[in-house]
Amino acid sequence: MTSNSLSGKTALVTGCGRGIGKAIAETLAKEGADIVVNDIDPDAVEKLAKDISGFGGRVLVCCGSVGVTPDVTAIFSKIKKEFKRLDILVNNAGITRDNMLLQMSDQEWDQVLNVNLKGVFYCIREAAAMMKEQGYGRIVNLSSVTALTGNVGQVNYAASKAGVIGMTKTLARELARYQITVNAIAPGFIETPMTEAVPDDIKKSIVRGIPLGRAGKPQDVANLVKFLSTDDSAYITGQVISCNGGLYI
Ligand code: CAA
Repeated sequence: MTSNSLSGKTALVTGCGRGIGKAIAETLAKEGADIVVNDIDPDAVEKLAKDISGFGGRVLVCCGSVGVTPDVTAIFSKIKKEFKRLDILVNNAGITRDNMLLQMSDQEWDQVLNVNLKGVFYCIREAAAMMKEQGYGRIVNLSSVTALTGNVGQVNYAASKAGVIGMTKTLARELARYQITVNAIAPGFIETPMTEAVPDDIKKSIVRGIPLGRAGKPQDVANLVKFLSTDDSAYITGQVISCNGGLYI
């Protein structure tokens, strides 16, 4: 039987068309939450919405980029109109534009920082205003192991994900008075379309460095998001929790 630890709660999962975000949206939906699905790919979210609509909660589709302020404003207006509340925000949307420093263009830097860092800021600013009124909120930010270790070819991505950690710690302090918790997850090497694009030899050498001997699954991360979204984690805030098979200890 499915437990319903999130019945009556509303959750927005950004960038949930595929990969980790998709697993998170499915998992929170199975826990009974109403889900707002967001991605820049309308076909992917429509399909996901159809798949999870049978789990019992309501589903709202909000397409758009978290890195574009008018899109974010539109997403939150729709949430206010349709659901009237937001209990859980999962900032999952993220992109890579890997390149070595000396080859990296301004555009590759800006694109990644815009989605991965400014997008998180825009969404939290909107969500926190709603959560403050409710006196309750759970914010979960997807950082990365690369924020903790650095990674050759990812100066833009690692900087954005390290920025997410600074934001998490600051906003945990700032929003605690409204009973809003803010935590970050640092996934390691997880099997997703994003990591699929990494050249094979690099992929193999990363997996060789994982003590648990395998790449992670999106569900490994989704399970942790579920915990950080429920009242079981009520006394945890401002933390960065790794989910990496021991890749970085
Ligand atoms: N350590 C040391 N040196 C390295 C290195 C490493 N990890 N990787 C590459 N180099 C060296 C190469 O040996 C090469 O040296 P030479 O010039 O002496 O031959 C030099 O750096 C240039 O490397 P490439 O030939 O690979 O350069 P490129 O321009 O063709 O490609 C790149 C650069 C796009 C960054 C490519 O190396 C790449 O895709 N790397 C993988 C980056 C990566 O790990 N991404 C993780 C994505 S998963 C993710 O981001 C999710 C998450 O949260 C973990």
